[in-house]
Amino acid sequence: MSEKKAQLTIDGKDSPIELPVYSGSTGPDVVDVRSLVGEGIFTYDPGFVSTAACDSDITYIDGGAGVLLHRGYPIEQLAANSDFLETCFLLLNGELPSAEDKTAFENQIRQHTMVDEQIHQFFRGFPRNAHPMAMLCGVVGALSAFYHDTLDNDNPQHRMTAAVRVIAKMPTLAAMCFKHGVGQPFMYPQNDMGFAENFLHMMFGTPCDPPRVSPTLSKAMDTIFLLHADHEQNASTSTVRLAGSTGTNPYACIASGIAALWGPAHGGANEAVLEMLYEIGDESNIEDFILRAKDKDDPFRLMGFGHRVYKNYDPRATVIRGICDEVLDELGSDNDPLFRIARKLEKIALEDEYFIERKLFPNVDFYSGIILKAIGIPTSLFTVIFATGRTPGWIAHWNEMLSNPYRIGRPRQLYKGHTKRDYPA
Ligand code: SDX
Repeated sequence: MSEKKAQLTIDGKDSPIELPVYSGSTGPDVVDVRSLVGEGIFTYDPGFVSTAACDSDITYIDGGAGVLLHRGYPIEQLAANSDFLETCFLLLNGELPSAEDKTAFENQIRQHTMVDEQIHQFFRGFPRNAHPMAMLCGVVGALSAFYHDTLDNDNPQHRMTAAVRVIAKMPTLAAMCFKHGVGQPFMYPQNDMGFAENFLHMMFGTPCDPPRVSPTLSKAMDTIFLLHADHEQNASTSTVRLAGSTGTNPYACIASGIAALWGPAHGGANEAVLEMLYEIGDESNIEDFILRAKDKDDPFRLMGFGHRVYKNYDPRATVIRGICDEVLDELGSDNDPLFRIARKLEKIALEDEYFIERKLFPNVDFYSGIILKAIGIPTSLFTVIFATGRTPGWIAHWNEMLSNPYRIGRPRQLYKGHTKRDYPA
């Protein structure tokens, strides 16, 4: 029972409305407004700026301090000491795995990396120049057509099998989106490779060459997946939860998350950052773009800057910035002109009053695109990489919601349209 209370006094109401206030383990308290509907009142929060849509134990963000914790572990420590599959286990199960649990989970994932051969036909139907996110959204949604054996959402084993399947198959499908676009044969996953190494092999390997993936690039790819693994109730995760609250199958839920992530204000920003850097073209043009970003009459935004929650550095951007140095150094492109423009843009923006006043810092998308481009991944595939990394977060939130009592999500509105009027006689 809540100890703290809030009182809401509304003009015209005889007495104040008392509302319970709950505290989490950390972070802001919440006011439980569910009883307001009985008072004939809705709360109003377009964009859900100050709305807690659920309870969760998975990820905590302190935007003011630039803190990101997965099950309590700081993202910087996970990036330095863990790997993507271990972080997937942590997000799904709540604790880091023992050595034997980690091996067992890696083997479980390994057993599910292939997709049904029929899925190859889906790709044959897409034009070669189809956007990879369009293909990914379609084929992930279609996975439910293949897995009738595990669609009982009330069965924890079914939910965990679906979680393993989507995590394992996403890199295979991501690589297939790329191969279809370049007209090369699909590569099969190799069971003797690590998760990120396998992905890069399926991306850049061909049946004509022996597998060869640089350990530095595999590690960088694994860390990029890890840094994207989850991020509280962001737009795509909230979409997955809302879809899941109707009881639909997990593959349809993940496909809805992919669709939401695609937008340039969300996961599509990494692709938009590269397009912006190409458009800037030279350090001498940066000031003009900064002016455009500040001009209210110009829809241009500085892509890769700003965040709904972070009003400090996005801790993931700090880690990714460091990886940039390593990857560009390994590839001998540490003089990459785009990287130089990005660093100069970051410096200028962080000294500009407009950005300082609005606490607009580089976010996770600002540098990730530069690394992905250096690795050889085409810009159009960047958000597919984001989706591959975010899949464990999406499915962990879906599983958490279904593991506890929940109701179908059904927001209301402030209606401002016509009141009742009769059809003209
Ligand atoms: C991701 O939610 C998550 O956790 C998302 C994510 C995840 O891991 O899931 O972290 C991943 O989506 C990161 C964000 C990637 N998007 C971009 O980089 C696109 C560029 N950023 C903006 O579109 C914007 O900053 C958002 C969408 C990220 C945040 O939008 P908000 O919170 O609604 O902020 P806002 O639009 O209210 O901006 C507040 C002010 C406005 O100016 P004023 O009206 O106060 O004068 O800041 C300005 C905005 O115009 N502003 C920017 C800006 N971002 C905000 N001005 C110029 N360039 C920008 N990038």
